[in-house]
Amino acid sequence: MQDFRTVAVAAAQQAGKLIADAYRTDFRVDCKEGTSTNLVTEVDRRSEQAIVTILSAAFPDHRILAEEGGDHARGNSPCRWIVDPLDGTTNFAHGYPAFCVSIGLEVEGRIVLGVVYDPLRQELFEAEAGKGAFLNGGRIHVSKVASLRQALLITGFAYDRENRQRNLVHFSRFALESHGIRRSGSAALDLSSIAAGRADGFWELKLSPWDVAAGSLIVTEAGGRITDFAGNAFTTDGAQTLATNGLIHQEMIDVPPGK
Ligand code: IPD
Ligand code: CA
Ligand code: CA
Repeated sequence: MQDFRTVAVAAAQQAGKLIADAYRTDFRVDCKEGTSTNLVTEVDRRSEQAIVTILSAAFPDHRILAEEGGDHARGNSPCRWIVDPLDGTTNFAHGYPAFCVSIGLEVEGRIVLGVVYDPLRQELFEAEAGKGAFLNGGRIHVSKVASLRQALLITGFAYDRENRQRNLVHFSRFALESHGIRRSGSAALDLSSIAAGRADGFWELKLSPWDVAAGSLIVTEAGGRITDFAGNAFTTDGAQTLATNGLIHQEMIDVPPGK
């Protein structure tokens, strides 16, 4: 596992440097097919290329699921890397400073390693199953805030209109029940913020495996809880993600939209 961690950290930091160097320069921005809101830049693609090159050189038989390239099926290894080469593309494209690289390792369907790197703040979040969560080498824990009324929440909005609208219902309810809501534009950083105790609860609809694979382990290894909106076991398909410090989890489940 040490090897896996070392290689994943090296890949995240190398890609992070590439992203930070390109930030606020001229780069090509496209809309993904059929959308006017889901952006992709040439930097997303270059970052992915750098990560895939490093991972596949170190582990030639591993599979890689990466956002911009799809499933790089190689051998039939039980190990699969799940990679978001640039989480927070809309921020990056607009010059707003909140984005990261996210790399998770899944073995036989279970996430065992997560690395999230914020290249502007040079913050490296890491977790290995059973070994705790870390920020730049120091152990991190979720917050101790015990009630929704005193909680700082985070959310994000999917690219499609229907899920954006659905989330506005949750948003208006939680806005009235908490200290406030933040929206960073990077789900992997949001999950890392819950793990680091910078906020207390996060929810989002319709995320993808690369948005949540690494961050979900970082949350649970920091002592937090992650489920769907009804409290059922979390899956990386990301249809519904609810991640909290554990203490306000049930309260967030109990706040149905429109109540
Ligand atoms: C997006 C970000 C954002 C979330 C979106 C994601 P991308 O990922 O994580 O915070 O609200 O749902 O798709 O496109 O920047 O990699
Ligand atoms: Ca993403
Ligand atoms: Ca992305």
